[in-house]
Amino acid sequence: MAGGKVTIIDHPLIRHKLALIRDEKTGTKDFRQTVSEIATLMAYEITRDLPTREINIKTPVASAVAHTLAKEVVLVPILRAGLGMVEGISSLIPTAKIGHVGLYRDEETLEPHTYYAKFPAHIKEAKVLLLDPMLATGGTVSESIKILKNNGVTDIVFVGLVGAPEGINRVHTDHPDVDIYLAALDEKLNECGYIVPGLGDCGDRLYGTK
Ligand code: URA
Repeated sequence: MAGGKVTIIDHPLIRHKLALIRDEKTGTKDFRQTVSEIATLMAYEITRDLPTREINIKTPVASAVAHTLAKEVVLVPILRAGLGMVEGISSLIPTAKIGHVGLYRDEETLEPHTYYAKFPAHIKEAKVLLLDPMLATGGTVSESIKILKNNGVTDIVFVGLVGAPEGINRVHTDHPDVDIYLAALDEKLNECGYIVPGLGDCGDRLYGTK
């Protein structure tokens, strides 16, 4: 597999919560809440390498050297399912700014087209967490990374819940500089482009649209 690093964040709590969202019997409310909780747990691990800088502060007792984040974090959910991960991550990083990107697939050419892209002012200097729960073919994710790079972003990681090998290959072939974080790597895509075993259509399950 060419390209950057793939990290599967394997933790008992994440495994337990994945079982809940994979289960077809889990309803909208619990599905949405659990996606958010998994995103929170993943964020803790993904931000492990964030740079910090020393600051001098005064505690009520003495002067002290402390540390503060040295780089802004920007979350960029891919509409619409990526929105389900925003609250969970921003609960850990409340200062994170949020951009949005939306794409649709041309039914004839199958090429992705951007219908919405709006980013915070200083996104070029930030660490960007691109969010989409499902890394399936990788086409939408790859195109979203291209849009971010066209906006001057250089520090991008992709964060998804469930991925397929096809999606990882596509992202790493197109963008070998982008690391991928997933909660689970599944077996394959089926003929309809769904991840197997996966969890079905994540957007529909998040928003109750089916
Ligand atoms: N998008 C989804 O929501 N689910 C899949 O299995 C693949 C893409």
